[in-house]
Amino acid sequence: PSLASSAIDEFLGCLAADIPSRFIQTPATPSYSALLLSTAWNLRYILPDTSKPIGIIAATEHAHVQTTVRCGRRHGVRIRVRSGGHDYEGLSYASIHLHNEPFAVLELAALRAIHVDPARAEAWVESGATIGELYYAVGAASRSLGFPAGSCPTMGVGGHLSGGGFGSLARKYGLSADNVLDAVVVDANGRLMNRSTMGEDLFWAICGGGGESFGIVLSWKVRLVAVPETVTVFSIIRSRNQSAIELITKWQEIAPVLPQNLYLRVLVLNQQATFQALFLGRCGCLHGLMQDRFPELGMTKQNCQEVSWVQSTAFFGFSTTSIPTEQLLNRSSNPHYYLKAKSDHVQEPIPRDVWESIWTAWLEKPEAALLMLDPYGGLMSSISPSETPFPHRQGNLYQLQYYSFWYENGTAAAEKRMSWVRGLYKEMEPYVSKNPRAVYVNYRDLDLGTNELDGNVTSYEKARVWGEKYFKGNFKRLAAVKTMVDPDDFFKNEQSIPPLPAAK
Ligand code: FDA
Repeated sequence: PSLASSAIDEFLGCLAADIPSRFIQTPATPSYSALLLSTAWNLRYILPDTSKPIGIIAATEHAHVQTTVRCGRRHGVRIRVRSGGHDYEGLSYASIHLHNEPFAVLELAALRAIHVDPARAEAWVESGATIGELYYAVGAASRSLGFPAGSCPTMGVGGHLSGGGFGSLARKYGLSADNVLDAVVVDANGRLMNRSTMGEDLFWAICGGGGESFGIVLSWKVRLVAVPETVTVFSIIRSRNQSAIELITKWQEIAPVLPQNLYLRVLVLNQQATFQALFLGRCGCLHGLMQDRFPELGMTKQNCQEVSWVQSTAFFGFSTTSIPTEQLLNRSSNPHYYLKAKSDHVQEPIPRDVWESIWTAWLEKPEAALLMLDPYGGLMSSISPSETPFPHRQGNLYQLQYYSFWYENGTAAAEKRMSWVRGLYKEMEPYVSKNPRAVYVNYRDLDLGTNELDGNVTSYEKARVWGEKYFKGNFKRLAAVKTMVDPDDFFKNEQSIPPLPAAK
């Protein structure tokens, strides 16, 4: 680490002037490790040789966040901000490639207030709330309102909304980021701003441009969306000898063009394909639709479960409807594990014989990962690719994710799992999006490339390699916003947006 220990002491002293000491943990304080681990989702990034933060600031007030940014800038300490800790590459709590710079973690878990206004169909939610807490609060306020976001209830609102937020309502209402109305941000100078004071460029950038690069989002005002009081879910499992491969092949053509009120995804694990649906309506209607559009799946009325929308979120989170919705409030309901994921966008259906050979050569291996096939289409196709930084709209049939998770310690297990993911990803190249091979930023993947310095600032040219995969043509605009709001590149990580190069 290049920073002298005196600078670290000065940083901690600067914090202590405004933040009570019980909210600041250092490696010398007893609850440091427990706090660091509390939401560190990916165990790969808390191994003994991963560099650890010089301090963790558990903010309980907005002013604590402002102080942390100001002190970090003054004393040259980089800040990593963590809301739910679900970053696939641990960027909210670990520094992996960034020149061993000392850094502090700003922990937002305590900033998690939620205020739902059912009459206006709006809510304010702080970044440290989990998506499960938000779903629960919306469901408690009204049975006919919902919010479009992803399936894992313990994800943090802060990172999830910053990177997009894709889930079972996306075909009807778009991403979480498409439904943000306002936000409160602390900028690189420690100033508090809302949409009208930050301006439309910065507001655009924080709604899908990825976490961390532009500032720290403290809270979000979101639009709630109309859902029927009763919705229907189902889960149908098919093995290879129950035509799983034929069904997946056909699913690719059907799922993206189904009516917007039907979301049908596929999960492939343990050599079984699970077709999971959310229908914004009753069973009878869904059954008729499935008979008409996808009779091969063999869905019957017995497969239906009619539930409230909030129960449907528990169904996608925990794969069962028999769990009480209070479980959405359990911030430690999911086990932590080692994780490596990669993802693709599929634009042409993958032929059946390719699925056959993937199944035999890859999915039957004991170290096979979970495959997730998430349909696009519906409203996703009518939103312009530059409306938000998330550019993956019309022309994409579905997102294909290779998600490997394991519990065994040690490098042998890790290498086996990771080389499976990387091997299949390589093999899939001919069948997925090209120029660029597009990736969703919330499925962060450091294999795509990591930032390098050009002087004191992140190199724009080097960052284009990974940046255009996440953001396509929006990458340059994101860099232009970065140049405006953080030209010194204070908010920096392995894949933060760089400023544009200075005109020569
Ligand atoms: P974390 O706190 O780790 O932050 C992620 C990034 O955002 C970091 O770079 C961090 O510094 C930055 N950040 C965090 N808070 C910030 C703030 N307040 N202001 C500015 N920057 C901030 N995605 C999806 O779209 N649909 C899904 O269904 C799922 N499902 C899913 C399941 C599981 C098990 C995991 C682990 C992940 C997903 N995801 C997902 C991906 C998820 O959307 C992504 O990891 C989010 O960034 C997680 O947000 P957290 O706040 O939890 O992460």
